[in-house]
Amino acid sequence: MTVTSPRKIRKAVFPVAGLGTRFLPATKVIPKEMLTVVDKPVIQYAVDEAIEAGIEHFVFVTGRGKGAIEDHFDLAYELEATLKARGKTAELKMMQDGRPAAGTASFVRQQEPLGLGHAVWCARDIVGDEPFALALPDMLIHGKRGCFAQMVDVYNRHGGNIIAVEEVPHEHVNRYGVVALAEDMGNETFRITGMVEKPKVEDAPSDLIISGRYILQPEIFTKLSTQKPGAGGEIQLTDAMIALMDEQKFFSYRFEGTTYDCGDKVGYLTANVALALDRPDIEPKFRPLLEKLAGK
Ligand code: G1P
Repeated sequence: MTVTSPRKIRKAVFPVAGLGTRFLPATKVIPKEMLTVVDKPVIQYAVDEAIEAGIEHFVFVTGRGKGAIEDHFDLAYELEATLKARGKTAELKMMQDGRPAAGTASFVRQQEPLGLGHAVWCARDIVGDEPFALALPDMLIHGKRGCFAQMVDVYNRHGGNIIAVEEVPHEHVNRYGVVALAEDMGNETFRITGMVEKPKVEDAPSDLIISGRYILQPEIFTKLSTQKPGAGGEIQLTDAMIALMDEQKFFSYRFEGTTYDCGDKVGYLTANVALALDRPDIEPKFRPLLEKLAGK
């Protein structure tokens, strides 16, 4: 099925209100999204991915103590003026490329930690009546082409709602949202027939988990507005998507790239090592040290 010209995805939502308790004491003052992977904050990877996909407006759902994120995406006037005066053009370009243009970043607070579904719902007025991208920044996706850019291609072909999925070892499915699939649409895209949030391992419909990237239609906000708490006593996005499945199509897409769960210490450390090894300016010095540490 081909849908003619689905509405363009202009906005992306980034829920960044989480407390980051798993990274205390590092996250006592610094938001967990500002922890660095190599030399960039975790949140910047998700925003860069959205920029690559042509996103025009960036909506951050923040909370108390997350001011550093707002500052990070602002123009640091003195810094940029100094870089310019010193002729540090590469650094200046890096600063400019990674920051949304004036008027294209919005910040809204989730006042209470009521769950991912509630965080997304907090963005409803800023997103308005149009489809949008949603990135959970903890899930850092690294590859040749950004996950969102790949998903926008799928969306342009099929319309509806698109969820990035990937396979995990069966014993890990209880940590995630899990999808059930039917009809192969080609190009790693399937129709989704069911979803469940944090199932018991024995009840999971597949080993394909929701990887933290979504393209959603605005009707999700209507479902979220009446969504009752689900798994973990939280208002779950997955439950609202299940409700919307009665009315709209949902497609899964197996993207190309590797996911690092930076909400977890081992995942975060792995991201640092993997991305450092992928950097031509770091890898030659880093790899021998790593091999020495590993006792090779
Ligand atoms: C959320 C989603 C879940 C998804 C996961 C990916 O869970 O609810 O469906 O698989 O992100 O990280 P959370 O990690 O917030 O518990």
